[in-house]
Amino acid sequence: MYLSRFLSIHALWVTVSSVMQPYPLVWGHYDLCKTQIYTEEGKVWDYMACQPESTDMTKYLKVKLDPPDITCGDPPETFCAMGNPYMCNNECDASTPELAHPPELMFDFEGRHPSTFWQSATWKEYPKPLQVNITLSWSKTIELTDNIVITFESGRPDQMILEKSLDYGRTWQPYQYYATDCLDAFHMDPKSVKDLSQHTVLEIICTEEYSTGYTTNSKIIHFEIKDRFAFFAGPRLRNMASLYGQLDTTKKLRDFFTVTDLRIRLLRPAVGEIFVDELHLARYFYAISDIKVRGRCKCNLHATVCVYDNSKLTCECEHNTTGPDCGKCKKNYQGRPWSPGSYLPIPKGTANTCIPSISSIGNCECFGHSNRCSYIDLLNTVICVSCKHNTRGQHCELCRLGYFRNASAQLDDENVCIECYCNPLGSIHDRCNGSGFCECKTGTTGPKCDECLPGNSWHYGCQPNVCDNELLHCQNGGTCHNNVRCLCPAAYTGILCEKLRCEEAGSCGSDSGQGAPRTAPQRCCC
Ligand SMILES: *[C@@H]1O[C@H](CO)[C@@H](O)[C@H](O)[C@H]1NC(C)=O
Ligand SMILES: *[C@@H]1O[C@H](CO)[C@@H](O)[C@H](O)[C@H]1NC(C)=O
Ligand SMILES: *[C@@H]1O[C@H](CO)[C@@H](O)[C@H](O)[C@H]1NC(C)=O
Ligand SMILES: *[C@@H]1O[C@H](CO)[C@@H](O)[C@H](O)[C@H]1NC(C)=O
Repeated sequence: MYLSRFLSIHALWVTVSSVMQPYPLVWGHYDLCKTQIYTEEGKVWDYMACQPESTDMTKYLKVKLDPPDITCGDPPETFCAMGNPYMCNNECDASTPELAHPPELMFDFEGRHPSTFWQSATWKEYPKPLQVNITLSWSKTIELTDNIVITFESGRPDQMILEKSLDYGRTWQPYQYYATDCLDAFHMDPKSVKDLSQHTVLEIICTEEYSTGYTTNSKIIHFEIKDRFAFFAGPRLRNMASLYGQLDTTKKLRDFFTVTDLRIRLLRPAVGEIFVDELHLARYFYAISDIKVRGRCKCNLHATVCVYDNSKLTCECEHNTTGPDCGKCKKNYQGRPWSPGSYLPIPKGTANTCIPSISSIGNCECFGHSNRCSYIDLLNTVICVSCKHNTRGQHCELCRLGYFRNASAQLDDENVCIECYCNPLGSIHDRCNGSGFCECKTGTTGPKCDECLPGNSWHYGCQPNVCDNELLHCQNGGTCHNNVRCLCPAAYTGILCEKLRCEEAGSCGSDSGQGAPRTAPQRCCC
């Protein structure tokens, strides 16, 4: 099991960050969730808002390409050199490591030359569009803290959309449009982040700033997080307190910088001139040498450590919170509704810890089934009011009548009480005992009283059998119907067809062949 903690690289990052991050130290790092302080009552914990260190998030993502077979080299093909469209004998071959350009190369270490890069197949099928979706997934909400930077080894695409998802890829929103000609490509007026302001910072724009080109300085595309931060924190992000204040109070702004997935939609490769050179289609493809995404796990200001375990990021929650994003209170710590920590007041913020489920009025726990307690004067006691989830009792610790305790659920589980479902025809009432057994009427059995004991049959509840062709036979040629009655031939009646109908009516004739016929004594001849 591979276990990496952001904390373990923390020390290294701090030394680097003091060079790379222009932030002054005074606004607070939120890098501690609690400290011990000394008061008149002795040593106590002081809790503070805290968050993981900002880090390189590309180490924790999964990348997916659409179409899946768009990477060059299978089968091997030749393409034109970057910057020299007439030298078209470069090779891409997926089966030869030195000539392969798999997606991982977008996230490996750059800084050596020549750089390593992912490359798509060439635009052989022109004029059919050459389009690629590159999806980066974290399976975790993360907060972006720095510009997203994409370095194209080929020219920058003529048209591209950067998109984000906040719900693990179920829905997507555009983040920014990029085009050589915004009006033509997306029917949008070109804008730059510099045209925005505090009030329009969430506007989605199309930018022509990163238009196509082949020179080394023009390989890069930004999504400008820092310029957007600067609307609140000032030009060199000197006043982060002001930004944090805004993030605290404006959910939309916080969500704007929060993602679970990013998607780069490459819509049209760099063409360079106005017309596509159809004789040299091997000039046109996408190649990306580097993608930078810096951010931190979103832990709602309740954790400084984010663990990467089993290819999954999880906050290591403090303040008695729990969940992947520390998004709820731990069991038995639901004394007040969960809330995220707050950046304010600067510099330590407010922890908003979860408190034990004991309300301030008396010692009343309701196991999360009620958030209201009431003091009963007469009994001098506190009880939970309107217990939910079919619970009842002073602490909502019992199940309502007609429900029983779910043995596999904790007392504070919403499923703690299960309906009895006693069969209304078979049971004496709708209550059951602690293991869900109902009380059955005579002749009835089964946990829910919906089965009959031997010798009984279901007919609006269990009725004793009248006939069953085993012990209880219909007589005189009668037949047993559903165990509840004998169907008798016309001449007979009675429950078992044991009586003559005429006997019942008292109308049987006196010598209707009942008596033995008189016969002459037989003589014997010798
Ligand atoms: C990229 O994603 C969009 C949105 O789901 C979809 O319409 C488009 O067909 C995809 N493109 C490719 C090349 O898969
Ligand atoms: C969380 O609960 C533990 C006991 O389980 C307690 O010791 C600790 O102080 C609590 N922390 C906070 C922040 O309330
Ligand atoms: C009992 O509780 C467990 C745990 O919450 C739950 O998964 C299960 O569905 C419950 N059983 C019933 C019958 O509701
Ligand atoms: C409920 O009743 C059934 C059947 O009589 C019995 O087996 C079970 O032990 C009872 N459960 C409890 C908790 O009393």
